[in-house]
Amino acid sequence: MPATTRPQSLICEVTHRCPLHCLYCSNPIEMQQAAAELPAEVWRRVFQEAAALGILHLHLTGGEPLARKDLAELIQAGHDAGLYVNMVTSGVGLTEERLAGLVQAGLEHLQLSFQDADEARANYIAGTRAHAWKLGLVPLIKQQRLAFTVNLVVHRQNLDRLEEMIALAESLEPNRIEIAHVQYYGWALKNRSLLMPTEEQVQYALPVVEAAKTRLRGKIHLDAVLPDYYANFPKACVGGWGRQMILIDPAGRALPCHSAGILPGFAFDNVREKSLSWIWGQSPAFERFRGDAWMSETCRSCERKERDFGGCRCQAFLLTGDMEAIDPVCTYSPQHGLMEELRKPAGDDLLPIYRNS
Ligand code: FES
Repeated sequence: MPATTRPQSLICEVTHRCPLHCLYCSNPIEMQQAAAELPAEVWRRVFQEAAALGILHLHLTGGEPLARKDLAELIQAGHDAGLYVNMVTSGVGLTEERLAGLVQAGLEHLQLSFQDADEARANYIAGTRAHAWKLGLVPLIKQQRLAFTVNLVVHRQNLDRLEEMIALAESLEPNRIEIAHVQYYGWALKNRSLLMPTEEQVQYALPVVEAAKTRLRGKIHLDAVLPDYYANFPKACVGGWGRQMILIDPAGRALPCHSAGILPGFAFDNVREKSLSWIWGQSPAFERFRGDAWMSETCRSCERKERDFGGCRCQAFLLTGDMEAIDPVCTYSPQHGLMEELRKPAGDDLLPIYRNS
């Protein structure tokens, strides 16, 4: 089925290099090496193609985008193409001078994530001493003309401190706070038992989030979503396969979502060889789960299919081994019982598994 919508966002993993070793990292287990990274001139052409395709938002992410020495050049290229440029960063290594250069180049939005309100616990999750650095960076961000989002990644190891985490985020005076439960893809899957929140934690968190939304209304926008494994219906993953966004990995592969590389039988086209317009309109990978022809009868006849577009294909594959299966998060899936199994509290003696790269 051909594309019926225009993409809105281009997510560019400009590198997989990263100084952090977060237990919940959703980057693939096999990451792209520095030598395979696209050079700036290819990114520049891709950004222009993205703008011509109607894309508005450019998200530079990684890994850690700051690991690219030519990051200012990439930002400038996105800005010159007319895209709104956001950088998702840990902030580690960012100095006042470099930040000023990035803003000068056209950076308009910066997202900084915090792993906990407690420094030692935050550093434990990040696998490195990053928390104090991040806090020190915030006044420098506030000096700049930048929209600022604080991202709080929550899970079993910190959800009990959600109120403190929101208070910390609030004290940093961002424009937006995003509370994101860990998604179990990539490296995070290795630490799933350690990170899976308990039912009690999830129940505690719901009113905390609602109270914060009410308190912050008109001051700070707060976005939060229910953790997938506790939901009864699947999320519209990436806004629907091949409907809203294109992700480019550091080596130039164009993917419909951040995890699609795990799906068997796919050949992902590369922006080195194909234009973004061709990829969006004609790439078999982007067409694979568009529309409803691929869905089971249960999904095809479900009135929710226009809301969730069949849920998450990667999750269906990871949990059932069948990428066409009903997303097991869905209450109508014959494998929905799996979710209860996976939510069962694990022992307290689990050890964290860190990425060593
Ligand atoms: Fe791939 Fe959801 S992460 S479809």
